[in-house]
Amino acid sequence: MQRDPISKYRPVKPIDLPDRQWPSRQIDHAPIWTSVDLRDGNQALAIPMTVDEKIEFFESLVRIGFKEIEVGFPSASQTEFDFIRRLVDEKRIPNDVTIQVLVQAREHLIRRTFESLEGVAKAIVHLYNSTSPLQRRVTFNKSKAEIKTIAIEGAELIKSLVDSIPETQIRLEYSPESFSDTEVDYALEVCEAVMQVWQPSETNKIILNLPATVEIATPNHHADQIEWFCRNLKERNKAIVSLHTHNDRGTGIAATELGLLAGADRVEGTLFGNGERTGNLDIVTVALNLYTQGVDPKLDLADIPALRDTYERITRMNIPERHPYAGDLVFTAFSGSHQDAIKKGMDLRAKNADSEEHWQVPYLLIDPEDIGRNYEAIIRINSQSGKGGVAFLLHRDHGLDLPKVMHPEVGEVVNRAADQDSRELASTEIYEIFLREYVERNSPLKIITIEREDISKSGEIQIEAQILYQEKEATICGTGNGPISAFVDALQAFGLKDFQLLDYRQHSIGHGSKTEAAAYIQIKKSDGTCHFGCGINSNIDLAGLNALVSAYNRSR
Ligand code: KIV
Ligand code: ZN
Repeated sequence: MQRDPISKYRPVKPIDLPDRQWPSRQIDHAPIWTSVDLRDGNQALAIPMTVDEKIEFFESLVRIGFKEIEVGFPSASQTEFDFIRRLVDEKRIPNDVTIQVLVQAREHLIRRTFESLEGVAKAIVHLYNSTSPLQRRVTFNKSKAEIKTIAIEGAELIKSLVDSIPETQIRLEYSPESFSDTEVDYALEVCEAVMQVWQPSETNKIILNLPATVEIATPNHHADQIEWFCRNLKERNKAIVSLHTHNDRGTGIAATELGLLAGADRVEGTLFGNGERTGNLDIVTVALNLYTQGVDPKLDLADIPALRDTYERITRMNIPERHPYAGDLVFTAFSGSHQDAIKKGMDLRAKNADSEEHWQVPYLLIDPEDIGRNYEAIIRINSQSGKGGVAFLLHRDHGLDLPKVMHPEVGEVVNRAADQDSRELASTEIYEIFLREYVERNSPLKIITIEREDISKSGEIQIEAQILYQEKEATICGTGNGPISAFVDALQAFGLKDFQLLDYRQHSIGHGSKTEAAAYIQIKKSDGTCHFGCGINSNIDLAGLNALVSAYNRSR
């Protein structure tokens, strides 16, 4: 790399638009979405899709609601041509879906493209040629006027061929390829020249697609280009302005969003952003960004996992773990403070289910359930995790509703285990640690049998228990106004006097015949230390007594 001064690269020239309007606008409706997965996305795959795979992908796109789908570049290969023919011959294109075909401004390619459309009810023919100074000089060695002529001649041929397939309702699209790097006034001049040929109307608009073929600057520059274009286009009412961003600088999504603020009506992109180099625009992310702002994206993205499966299988691409909305880890919090906040937010939401209108859970932009994700992965435990996360998992996965005062201690016990192994713990491992530490504590005190007898109408009961204490059997007896207090009385009569009962709670786990009770007891020793124990049993009395035994054993 060069060091200062850097002469190898230079900044883009800003667009002269001092009264730009886009920064103070908001997006309040979904754009027209056009999927280019089967063309731009497909041409970027190491192993392009087979015809069968394209058909399956096409059907997924239709299912989620795309009404415009660029199906390929039919003049470029036999597979592309055959795919369109299969769509037509097998009547796979729904009435409300328009297929789009891309073609370069070259005569034989345009003619072949029209052949592929025979029998199609509705189609968009998408013509392009490259317009940037770099492409003009390096790739084509042609002047501005010559490049404009290429566009005009392509447009004229297309216009003359439209009538050759009268049964097809054709709409027309033009892209000044490399628009992002083209002088805006020249791009406008070429687009208006194409409009002149195609003579669009307010009811049959031309689509002017303005590709950021290569993303060359910050998204605000893209927005300025789009606003400048929209404001200077003579017959704006006869054009649909379309965006087609790529992601070379990693800001393709932002560029599209700002481009929409700048006045564009339509967006071309792919699912999850597959495409040349760093990819096309990720339509799923932009659509869900709209959704989380309260705007209906008009795409059904309620089952992202299924969509992702299809996408990954057919494209042989993987969605990274932290990819917005779809990545494996995007609904996972490892950090303790995040887990705490998420748990509080979820609890509050569950409590106020009817009154909380808007989704407001800290650290979660979207309710994972809205897009078919579940809460399973929201909280995962490693050594960064805290009390809230552990309590959340024990509750969600194992039905244990730990008293709040117990959370910090249990969190610490589990964290220590995670730290020791330096790894993330699965929910079942956390449960096992909890059982080992708080439930299965049978030494030095253990109950062998226990009998209870109601001895007065006011609820007093008597307990007689067979116990093992320091490996010796004994029979103990006590009374109280419940089994716990009677057992404490019996233990104290036996000589285990150095503790007092501080807290007792219980709740049921599960339903019907499988219901169990969980009891939590906190005791305080005479040295001032406090200790928790838990008992889980189908018998509620035994759950409580076992909790007491565990707490006692943990105090030793
Ligand atoms: O990125 C691009 O410029 C394109 C055009 C062909 C529309 O894909
Ligand atoms: Zn592209």
